Amino acid sequence: MKINLSNIKKAEKLLIKNDCIAIPTETVYGLAGNAYSNQACKKIFLLKKRPKNNPLIVHYFDKKRLENDCEINNSFVKLYKKFCPGPITFILNLNKKSKISKFVTNNKKSLAVRFPKHPVARNLIKRLKFPLAAPSANLSTKVSAVCSSHVKEDFGKKIKFILEGGKSSIGIESTIIDIRDKPRILRLGGLDISTIEKVLNRKISITNNPSKISSPGQSRLHYSPGIPIKLNGKRTSGKSEAYLLIKKRNKSKSNYYYLSKNSNLKEAAKNLYNTLRKIKKNKYKSIVVEKIPNTGLGKTILDRLTRASKL
Ligand code: TXA
Ligand code: MG
Repeated sequence: MKINLSNIKKAEKLLIKNDCIAIPTETVYGLAGNAYSNQACKKIFLLKKRPKNNPLIVHYFDKKRLENDCEINNSFVKLYKKFCPGPITFILNLNKKSKISKFVTNNKKSLAVRFPKHPVARNLIKRLKFPLAAPSANLSTKVSAVCSSHVKEDFGKKIKFILEGGKSSIGIESTIIDIRDKPRILRLGGLDISTIEKVLNRKISITNNPSKISSPGQSRLHYSPGIPIKLNGKRTSGKSEAYLLIKKRNKSKSNYYYLSKNSNLKEAAKNLYNTLRKIKKNKYKSIVVEKIPNTGLGKTILDRLTRASKL
C-alpha cells in the first residue's frame, strides 16, 4: 500500500497534542493515543466507553524501544524474533523507569505490548517519541473495525482523524500470550497457537475461564453485532435470519453470507467482522452460523462467535 506522508504527519501532530485518532493495523483498527500521557489515555476510555479496569494494549516500534518500559525474557526474545512485527501481544512486567500512564494499566504492574506490522502504523510509530496505547477502534463490547468506514460508523465525528490504511489484512485481533511465567494464552487471535508452540517447543495452555478474567477481551458479550447468533445451525428459520457459511455454495440465496470461497480459515477470519457488520446493516434479526472447524484460525473464529452469541 502507498504511504500518504501528509496524512501520517497530520496523525503525528494530533498525537503529540494528546489527541486520540484511529490508526490502521494488520489485525484491526486501533483507537490510539500517547501511552505516556494521562490525558490522552483518559480520552481513549471515554471515547470507547470502556470500563477503567480493562487495560490497554501499547504499540511499540521495536524491542529496543520496548525496553524503556518493560522487562523482557527468553520466551519473549524467541517469539519476537519469529513473529514480530505481527499479530501477537505479550503480557510483560513494567520496569522501574517505565513512563507508561497509570490509566493504561489501571495501576497494575503488567503491560500488554504489540508491534504492529501494517506499514502505515509502523511509519507513524517510528516517528513518535512515545509508544501508542490503542485498543480496538470500536465501541466497547461491539464488533471490531477492519476498515476506516467501520470506525466512522462507531464514532462519527467524535474522533478527530482516522488514518487511512485500507482493509486490515488479518482482520481479527492479535493473539495474547502472558509470558511472565509459564506461557499462557489469554486470547485466541490472528496467530495460530500451534505455530507459537513450535517456537517455544512446548504445549501452551489457554486460560479461558470468564470467572477469572485477566484479559477482559475474554469476558462474555464481546464482539457482538447486536443481534442473536446461533452456532452449529443446519438451516435458517426464515427470511429475516441470515445464514453465515464458511464455504461458498453453488446455489446462493439472498440471506446467505460466505466467509470464504473454499473453507479457507485465514480468509474466513479476515472476512468475519466485515460480514457481521454487513448482516446487521441489512437489517437481519438474527444469524445462524454453520459448523466451523475447530482447528487453526477456526478456533479464533469460534471463540469470537461464541462470545458474540452470549447476547
Ligand atoms: O490486534 C489487537 O490486539 C488490536 C490492535 C488495535 O492492536 N487491539 C486490541 O485491543 O484488540 P483491545 O483493547 O480491544 O483488546 C486488548 C485486550 C483486552 O481484552 C484487555 O483486557 C487485554 O488485552 N489486556 C490489556 N492489558 C492487559 C494486561 N496487562 N494483562 C492482561 N490482559 C490485558
Ligand atoms: Mg477490542
